[in-house]
Amino acid sequence: MTNGPSFLAGDLILTPDGSRTALSLRYGEAYGSRHGAAAQARHVFVEGSGTHTHPAPRVLEVGFGLGANFRATLEQCARRGAALTYLAYEFDPAPTGLLRAVAEGSAGADHPAWAAALAGWGRASPLTVRLPGVALSVVFGDVREAGLPSGWATAVYLDGFSPARNPEVWTPDLVGRLAGSLAPGGVLTTYSAAGHVRRTLAGAGLTVERRPGPPGKRECLRAVRPA
Ligand SMILES: C[S@@+](CC[C@H](N)C(=O)[O-])C[C@H]1O[C@@H](n2cnc3c(N)ncnc32)[C@H](O)[C@@H]1O
Repeated sequence: MTNGPSFLAGDLILTPDGSRTALSLRYGEAYGSRHGAAAQARHVFVEGSGTHTHPAPRVLEVGFGLGANFRATLEQCARRGAALTYLAYEFDPAPTGLLRAVAEGSAGADHPAWAAALAGWGRASPLTVRLPGVALSVVFGDVREAGLPSGWATAVYLDGFSPARNPEVWTPDLVGRLAGSLAPGGVLTTYSAAGHVRRTLAGAGLTVERRPGPPGKRECLRAVRPA
């Protein structure tokens, strides 16, 4: 974690909706959708989980990445005055300069909570931001080794790169623990609609629904913990 531009400018990707994402050199995959990074964050995660209508959402995310999902959620909650609690796990924090460059001019980037997150990024784990209407914690560690809250989250954003590139976050063990972190009626969302992912989610006791995907993707998933 450094404040300097330790990424290559060429790693930034401008996507068709005007938002930016970047290539992860470690995984050889973009952090967000090349077909519209902000559109994916809104459609798959914020709206797919019902967070956009929840009066006081509590979101658990794997992993925080460049913060696109956080910013999309933050912006949506701030606009309608909903208090947001956001707990994310990230074991390979991107440089602050990359987070800043990707966010510039995008949803949520002008919110004081985003500025506070950038100011504290990499200083301590967890990173904690507490402002009126927003509580953010980012745990800099491996989610597989974390003690997850039980029955707590109104939404789980499972966004840890694709099952092909990062199978470790799609195992029945971790998906089962993530399902256990959902409050009754809570929703886990992911962009993957692969058959084995659907079976793993169902095996964790969740009711799996396919829904139309974001730009460039036919389908994505939401999986509900029965009330
Ligand atoms: C697709 S990117 C996330 C994009 C992010 N949600 C956003 O909105 O910008 C996947 C992230 O998951 C993180 N990750 C992958 N496996 C992880 C693990 N076992 N524990 C914690 N973070 C992990 C990666 O380092 C990467 O930053």
